[in-house]
Amino acid sequence: MSTQYTIPETHLAVIIQPNKTVAVERVPVVHPGPGEVLIKVSTAGQNPADWKVIQFDVSPPGKGVGSDLVGTIVELGAGVEGVALGERVGAVLVARLHESSAFREYVVVPSKPLIRIPDNISDEVAAGVPSGAYSAAYGLHTLLGFPLNAPFNRSILVWGGSASVGWYTIQLAKLTGWKVIATASPHNHELLKSIGADYVFDYRESDVLEKIVLAAGQGGVDYLLDGVSADGSYHLASRALRKDGPRKASVLLPILDHEKLDPTVEYRRLAIFPMLGKEFPYEFMGLKVYHPYSESDLLFGLDISKRIEEWLRDGRITPLPHTVRPGGLNGVQAGLQHMMDGKVSATKLVYKIADTSA
Ligand SMILES: NC(=O)c1ccc[n+]([C@@H]2O[C@H](COP(=O)([O-])OP(=O)(O)OC[C@H]3O[C@@H](n4cnc5c(N)ncnc54)[C@H](OP(=O)(O)O)[C@@H]3O)[C@@H](O)[C@H]2O)c1
Repeated sequence: MSTQYTIPETHLAVIIQPNKTVAVERVPVVHPGPGEVLIKVSTAGQNPADWKVIQFDVSPPGKGVGSDLVGTIVELGAGVEGVALGERVGAVLVARLHESSAFREYVVVPSKPLIRIPDNISDEVAAGVPSGAYSAAYGLHTLLGFPLNAPFNRSILVWGGSASVGWYTIQLAKLTGWKVIATASPHNHELLKSIGADYVFDYRESDVLEKIVLAAGQGGVDYLLDGVSADGSYHLASRALRKDGPRKASVLLPILDHEKLDPTVEYRRLAIFPMLGKEFPYEFMGLKVYHPYSESDLLFGLDISKRIEEWLRDGRITPLPHTVRPGGLNGVQAGLQHMMDGKVSATKLVYKIADTSA
């Protein structure tokens, strides 16, 4: 017998304002369509994309914002299979790809893929998992065939190992046998070694590339996943790739300075849209991008969601440390500014919806 939930007609949501700030507004609750579920959000996690979509005019005033969320399924759309009312799940929403957003009380999301949150993981911890873990898994999948095991003695450089995607990339690469070399500020080195990084170097040091190449042996690293992908980081980091290796690099943002790329390196944009089961044509700073629907990528998304659930339950992956920001949804504006100011280091900012005052 399934539980019935009382769904209110309106709820609180963080909405973009004309002056590029956000404010909490009362808006109608939307009910799920075919293949979708309604989630009562418990905790939402913040990503850099959340301030970028506002500042770069990707999402207009009046739209919601927020990408990572954890909550309880309270309504099922037509034809939904494989998930049930009352289940605790995590999900990712992408501005422009999805109608709704994470910083709100009730959200409609596609029923596939969702991550079931195991009982040993709190909502606050889980809210930092979906987009980082999905991006890491999909990035390694497209780069080197994850979750296949690594060939003997091969290495990957994770530039920005204390950033969200880098954090999970270190762990998933270690799980499948890669030698992992990461970069981060010195205060995060021991932390990254504790989750499996074999070597960690300070990206600000002038001899960081020499140290990476020496640690990798064999003349350099085999692969690069650039978890920062800003201010020329992939130009610098790809110089650590060994000359006779695969010379492949995964970057997190659209590449706008093609002319500066090393032509001997195969750069690939890491974007999780295909594993979310949706076609996605869009334009970013004049660059037209198209991600077609792909059944096999959606199947990867479903498979990896189950694996993430298992790995969280048995401790094989450690969630990124988190920081609960004060004020619930009312605290989002300050949290976005905090991130824009570059003050986030090795932590996920999360908001407990129950902390919001009406
Ligand atoms: N979160 C996602 O799932 C996701 C998905 C796709 C794309 N992206 C994009 O990927 C980028 C990172 O996102 P995120 O969520 O991972 O950010 P984040 O966790 O907020 O990033 C903060 C971290 O970045 C590190 N960092 C900053 N500059 C660095 C540099 N030059 N070299 C190495 N590390 C550096 C800092 O390391 P230290 O404190 O150790 O210095 C800090 O721990 C953003 O551009 C975002 O839009 C993110």
